[in-house]
Amino acid sequence: MTPEEFKRLGYQLIDFIAEYRAGLEAKPVMAQVQPGAIKAMFSPTPPEQPVGFEEVRQDLMALFPGLTHWQSPNFFAWFPSNAPLSSVLADLVATGLGQTGITWQASPALTELEEVTTDWLRQMLGLPEYFQGVIQDTASSGTLVALLTAREWATGQSQDRGGLQAEPQPLTVYASDQAHSSVPKAVLLAGFGRENLRLIGTDDNHAMCPDQLEAALKRDLAEGRKPCAVVAAVGTTNTTAIDPLREIAKLCQRYGLWLHVDAAMAGSAMILPECRHLWDGIEQADSIAINPHKWLGVAFDCSLYYVREPEHLIRAMSTNPSYLHSAADGQVKNYKDWGIPLGRRFRALKLWFTLRDQGLQGLQARLRRDIANARWLEAQVRQTPGWELLAPVPFQTLCVRYNPGHLSPEQLDQHTQNWVARINRSGRAFLTPALLKGRWMVRVSIGVESTERSHVEALWHLMQQEAQKVEIET
Ligand SMILES: Cc1ncc(COP(=O)(O)O)c(C=O)c1O
Repeated sequence: MTPEEFKRLGYQLIDFIAEYRAGLEAKPVMAQVQPGAIKAMFSPTPPEQPVGFEEVRQDLMALFPGLTHWQSPNFFAWFPSNAPLSSVLADLVATGLGQTGITWQASPALTELEEVTTDWLRQMLGLPEYFQGVIQDTASSGTLVALLTAREWATGQSQDRGGLQAEPQPLTVYASDQAHSSVPKAVLLAGFGRENLRLIGTDDNHAMCPDQLEAALKRDLAEGRKPCAVVAAVGTTNTTAIDPLREIAKLCQRYGLWLHVDAAMAGSAMILPECRHLWDGIEQADSIAINPHKWLGVAFDCSLYYVREPEHLIRAMSTNPSYLHSAADGQVKNYKDWGIPLGRRFRALKLWFTLRDQGLQGLQARLRRDIANARWLEAQVRQTPGWELLAPVPFQTLCVRYNPGHLSPEQLDQHTQNWVARINRSGRAFLTPALLKGRWMVRVSIGVESTERSHVEALWHLMQQEAQKVEIET
């Protein structure tokens, strides 16, 4: 493709994306296809001859039935994964410039813009100056990096000897029973082993109980194990519960543990000064994961990882082959030593475009709008007979259930799953059913860029209508 062709076809594609976004509200939110339907539309063998871009562009339409519309104002599932159009353009520029950041020398602009934007965000979040940031692809990678770093920190760099396999005592990791699935996964991938993961009980608000954490630490010490790290959550996946960081941090100090904070979803809220009391104690974290690619609105993927003392991270991650040496080493950051992959995309451009396009005040206004919408829905749920709120609403996620009062727990589970399935199949909104401490409930996650109060009102109307319909059928 020549630069001239790129311009012509590129403008067409920009129009295509703009029209897609403009027409989103009318589309069924959840993809309505059966498994295999999209695959069946494509040739199982690779193309022999070039077909030309025009044909490829037309074939893009074939994918549409298989799209779940995350940017629809009626999307209330999992979590908001906003992708404002400014961020889309930034992604285009990032790819267009064709940069691959491995060392500073490979792209000084990529490296230094990442330093600038991660520090801007640090300031917006009210984090102390000693935190330094790096962009990871996802929070799952951030948690894995944290546990690998903690492992090496706790063992005095066991990787330079026999690794974890040669350690005299098993190392243990602690998280709450509400931790995201990426936490047990990182524990396994980092080689700790499932037997050395402790899922600590939670209170009525679904937050980790520090007294249970301390009891587990004492038990492990008494039985000859070596406590290594705690992963605390600010905004758990199910209910956006907040683990008590200050008390957990105290225990980490007392027992010499690494404290990683998973604030993947709710970290965005900390650009609001009125929310910051919710992560009281955050300054004592050793590492923090926050996803601007969720509520904040930087197009996926862009996950921030902050560390208090980067030397531990760099020691665990560093490689130094001769072909990557440069005269600037020692004066610059080589982000290859701040995570798992060698190469990195120019993700900082997305952060830069979004933060500048919307500014702190624009972002704060949007998040406040979403919190106000969640509060409005919370008030409706509380005052409507039969409806139950199963967790506090500190941010923008509600956990609800409709309880007609005459059903057994098993029937109520069935009833809940039925009405939410009806809504999702209707295409009018998309919600997530989830298990909370063994029983089904429905998560309503508000925060898509285009979701206004009117959409939340329409959703509430739909929820009541569908929940009551199913009651008759049960
Ligand atoms: C609390 C929490 N941690 C981690 C993750 C995983 O995020 P990512 O997809 O960036 O790995 C999620 C995603 O929903 C989450 O809610």
